[in-house]
Amino acid sequence: MRIDSRLSLALLPLVLAASISSPPSSRLALTPPMGWNSWNHFGCNVSDSLIRGTADAMVSSGMRDAGYQYVVIDDCWQVSRDAKGTIVADSSRFPHGIKALADYVHGKKLRFGIYTDAGTKTCQGRPGSYGYEDQDARTYAAWGVDYVKEDWCNASGLNARAQYAKFRKALDKTGRPIVLSLCEWGSNQPWEWAPGIGNLWRTTDDIEDKWVSMLSNLDQSSQHSTVARPGAWNDPDMLEVGNGGMTDDEYRAHLSLWAIQAAPLIAGNDLRSMSEATRIILTNPEVLAVDQDSLGAQGILVWEPVPELQVWAKPLRNGTHAVVLLNRSAKADTITAYLSRVGIHTDSASVRDLWSHAEIGKVKGRYSTAVKPHSAVMLRMMGVGGAPSN
Ligand code: GLA
Repeated sequence: MRIDSRLSLALLPLVLAASISSPPSSRLALTPPMGWNSWNHFGCNVSDSLIRGTADAMVSSGMRDAGYQYVVIDDCWQVSRDAKGTIVADSSRFPHGIKALADYVHGKKLRFGIYTDAGTKTCQGRPGSYGYEDQDARTYAAWGVDYVKEDWCNASGLNARAQYAKFRKALDKTGRPIVLSLCEWGSNQPWEWAPGIGNLWRTTDDIEDKWVSMLSNLDQSSQHSTVARPGAWNDPDMLEVGNGGMTDDEYRAHLSLWAIQAAPLIAGNDLRSMSEATRIILTNPEVLAVDQDSLGAQGILVWEPVPELQVWAKPLRNGTHAVVLLNRSAKADTITAYLSRVGIHTDSASVRDLWSHAEIGKVKGRYSTAVKPHSAVMLRMMGVGGAPSN
């Protein structure tokens, strides 16, 4: 008996250390988070009925079954704090309160997310979490929140790493596994310190529903590719697919590029009224599988033989490679992917087109194809036979 109790006492520090080093969030976001967020399409026009309708549409459109999980309310759901400091939701827009809404979303087998800000106020002037980190984390956990996006407005003079770490700790103390999405726009080099604090961190300013903005966010986020790994992702911002500012070819390129970068896929359109073309883009299983590949590598630009004609590649868990041939220019052109540049070390490869869902067949040394202006071709390549090419 005495030996047993001594043993268990001796083990106590180990048990404590294990529980400290494995917070409830440590098994979250092992692949890039997928979901929907209100901001890109609705701005401050959020409500209980919008979120319920979106959760319904997530299911009926097949998006949930395609892998989209989190339904996230962005800014403007909150109006004040009560006498005890508890954050208060806008009761005219959320008449049933946030807990009932989270229950509804969970009832659809989806997860529920909310927005806050590390500073004194959100970007839209609503109450921020500064000084209320523990209290807000407890409130969110009690409501059943699964994902928190934490913005960086009205935070001047604060240390980003320290503030975000404080919120991570506050969330972990609740015992509920909650994804933390850092949104300081890359202004404090989060790629240097965010892994272990946030599950994803913005690398750029806000995306706009325009080709040039989408490409600019791609280029910036691609600078930090070596940092991305399961549980910790560069975030070039939410998707604009279906919001109307780009063509469907451009939206296919947008999704292809986010997938090859292992970016979080947070849809930002009105799911309740999206076109069939948009639905098909967002739910393409072969493209989503590239994003969600368990190896967790962020694909990179491997070749740009001519300005604006690019080859991007990403190694996948099963030894195959995803490839995007990107034509950034306004005229059609031919783009060639050399197998060796993609990372395939055999003479030949079998090639599949992930948008037409067609086998292209076996190619030797390289694959060339015409790519329309402002579009992308997305492929999966598998090295076959032959001697290594380098
Ligand atoms: C910032 C963020 C956006 C959005 C708005 C809300 O601009 O970067 O994604 O959350 O605030 O006010």
